[in-house]
Amino acid sequence: MSETIPLVTRLAQKDEQKWLAALREKLPIYNVKSFTELDRAERSAARVAICANPDPAHIAALPNLVWLQSLWSGVERLVAELPASSPAIIRLRDPQLAASMAEAVLAGVLYLHRHMPAYLRQQQNRIWQGIDQPNAGQRKIGILGLGDMGAAAARLLLAPGFAVAGWSRSPKNIEGIKCLHGDDGLGLITASSDILVILLPLTKATRALVDSDFLAHMPPGAGIINFGRGPIIDSAALLAALESGHVSHALLDVFEREPLPAGSPLWSHPGITIWPHIAAVTSIDTASKIAAENINTFLRDGTIPEAVSRSRGY
Ligand SMILES: NC(=O)c1ccc[n+]([C@@H]2O[C@H](COP(=O)([O-])OP(=O)(O)OC[C@H]3O[C@@H](n4cnc5c(N)ncnc54)[C@H](OP(=O)(O)O)[C@@H]3O)[C@@H](O)[C@H]2O)c1
Repeated sequence: MSETIPLVTRLAQKDEQKWLAALREKLPIYNVKSFTELDRAERSAARVAICANPDPAHIAALPNLVWLQSLWSGVERLVAELPASSPAIIRLRDPQLAASMAEAVLAGVLYLHRHMPAYLRQQQNRIWQGIDQPNAGQRKIGILGLGDMGAAAARLLLAPGFAVAGWSRSPKNIEGIKCLHGDDGLGLITASSDILVILLPLTKATRALVDSDFLAHMPPGAGIINFGRGPIIDSAALLAALESGHVSHALLDVFEREPLPAGSPLWSHPGITIWPHIAAVTSIDTASKIAAENINTFLRDGTIPEAVSRSRGY
């Protein structure tokens, strides 16, 4: 009998059906089934499952699972909700998602670099006035996080000629990018970034990393782009820095609570541009292909892709 691959999600039924259809197309020789349709024998036999925001009780109900392929790239919720004894978590690593994120970072950096928020305000007040425009090479862009997303974004920002630096936990070497790491590296990138792009995962170490002390060390008038996770920025500290003018503008795609509640002061602040978590949207087509490749390899020769480190949290 062919191997059963459970799909475990808390998605709306119509969204889960779309994933099921794509995964079945890419794993035609296996029996890809929604968790809710599995019988007792299938639950017990499953060695690998695919998940998107799974109910932890459903993962616990698959006792012989060796690993779990997430359909999302950010795994902080899985890490928080699944006990440490759970099967290995494999996050989505999709070059298409990284390319899409790089495109969003380029759009966001150009938006701030070319004073778009200020020109929008001027238009609303019928003001015809140019603002001093530095060249791209005079603009220092700092990227927190040089993983799949950060490295792709850093490379794309070289094309218009920006001066790009990046920061990661471990040392990196990326041609054309000033690569920094550790506490000293953080101090350097904070103090020198005219536009700071956050592409870190949410972990114990990154939660509220961008607080009032951090913001005070940024150059006056700096811009901030958060495409990582909302709680990496202390939003009260950000609002205070915007009020004082120390931070000129923030482009935010991710928030502590999503959707951003209607009553949030972030919605109406003139120094904030809001995107509804769309910087890089998972493509069902490429993500299901990558999940299928990983599962095919495992079922052929037992290889498990590199797992998330539970101690690091990403
Ligand atoms: N807004 C969106 O639409 C969207 C879409 C996709 C992803 N995301 C977010 O983007 C995040 C990054 O994705 P990714 O695929 O690039 O992740 P990744 O490949 O795991 O890279 C994470 C990067 O952050 C660095 N890092 C982590 N903790 C750190 C710390 N404490 N100090 C310094 N550096 C640290 C890592 O350093 P090392 O290289 O040394 O490990 C790595 O360079 C995801 O976790 C998710 O939250 C957002």
